Amino acid sequence: MLARRIERLTSSLVRDILAVAQQPGVISFAGGLPASEALLSLDLAALPADVVKSALQYGPSEGETQLRELIAQRMQAIGLDCSAAQVLILNGSQQGIDLVSKLMIDEGTPVLVEEPAYLAALQSFRLLGADLRTLPIADGVDLKALAERLPEVTMAYLTPTFQNPSGYCYSQAERQAVAALLDTHGTCLFEDDPYRELAYDTPAPAPLVSHLTSAPWVYQGSFSKTLAPGLRLGYLIAHPDLMPHLVRLKQAADLHSNRLSQLIVTQILANDQLDPHLAAVLPLYRQRRDAMANALATHLSPYATWSLPSGGLFFWVKLNTVDDTLALMRAALAQKLAIMPGVAFMASNQDDGAIRLNFSHANPEQIQIGIARLAQILRDF
Ligand SMILES: Cc1ncc(COP(=O)(O)O)c(C=O)c1O
Repeated sequence: MLARRIERLTSSLVRDILAVAQQPGVISFAGGLPASEALLSLDLAALPADVVKSALQYGPSEGETQLRELIAQRMQAIGLDCSAAQVLILNGSQQGIDLVSKLMIDEGTPVLVEEPAYLAALQSFRLLGADLRTLPIADGVDLKALAERLPEVTMAYLTPTFQNPSGYCYSQAERQAVAALLDTHGTCLFEDDPYRELAYDTPAPAPLVSHLTSAPWVYQGSFSKTLAPGLRLGYLIAHPDLMPHLVRLKQAADLHSNRLSQLIVTQILANDQLDPHLAAVLPLYRQRRDAMANALATHLSPYATWSLPSGGLFFWVKLNTVDDTLALMRAALAQKLAIMPGVAFMASNQDDGAIRLNFSHANPEQIQIGIARLAQILRDF
């Protein structure tokens, strides 16, 4: 009765773990949740009543004109040459993954993904029947593997800036080298970039798509990590040839994005409030990242290695003695600690003993307690 693809529909482990992680007493390093203190403070009553009323009507599939213009301006300022006509407003950037999957993937379509990669993108690509090929990135981009695999694939899905889950940020030289290879093979690049504004040490390098000269591309960003995920607001910017198809896919999916959220974000961007908001929340995230770095050094040095992420929300911790991170996750949950098993992010399903730890949601005290608890769990495991 059900479509064949439903057999390929796996549950998102993150959402399952988050359900447990919300129980009282659990310290969670599992989700990619912004800190509650960092969420946008909103005064809905300050919005003009007539504007709010007009936002309750149906709107354009592409999104609100002013918002598209403001996003295009913001992206031009960081080196992405684009116009407002190339911007499509999304109900969260997860929707961009769904639309691009439908645009590019048939059963058996070869798609290149990073190893490790964002697990809800793997979920979407697998649902459409993609044949996933992997690009190792945890120790830097494997350019030799990229050159070998690009001729085989139709699309490459990359998260070059503060990657989820590894925290890795491609260097300027890596961006140029990857773009040159994509141009050579004419492979479509799908660049997913929700973490760029969470940069703790130096500003993130320009998007990888800005280095392309001929390969087709889709770039996407999100307001989830900078303002509030409950707004469900993101955007994609696409090569002009791909735009008409993406707009039709958006129409078929949900007609248009939530207009109230678009109104709220338009006001924030138009009043230049996003950068001051970020300037206020970045010190909090930097403090939590550093608290986790200290706790890891104190408690986990004998068992693991990791790098300090220069942005984003995650540590990628490689455990010396664990080869079943799902079993470790269950053992940790039994001790009221939520962590993400690295195997969930592997298109190859290989478990190399890594775990992902989120540092934005728990406060520094919980971080200390949680990492000490993790060390004890590892000793007992
Ligand atoms: C790499 C990546 N892409 C997309 C998303 C989806 O974000 P949203 O739909 O909230 O914009 C996330 C969320 O964690 C993510 O980490």
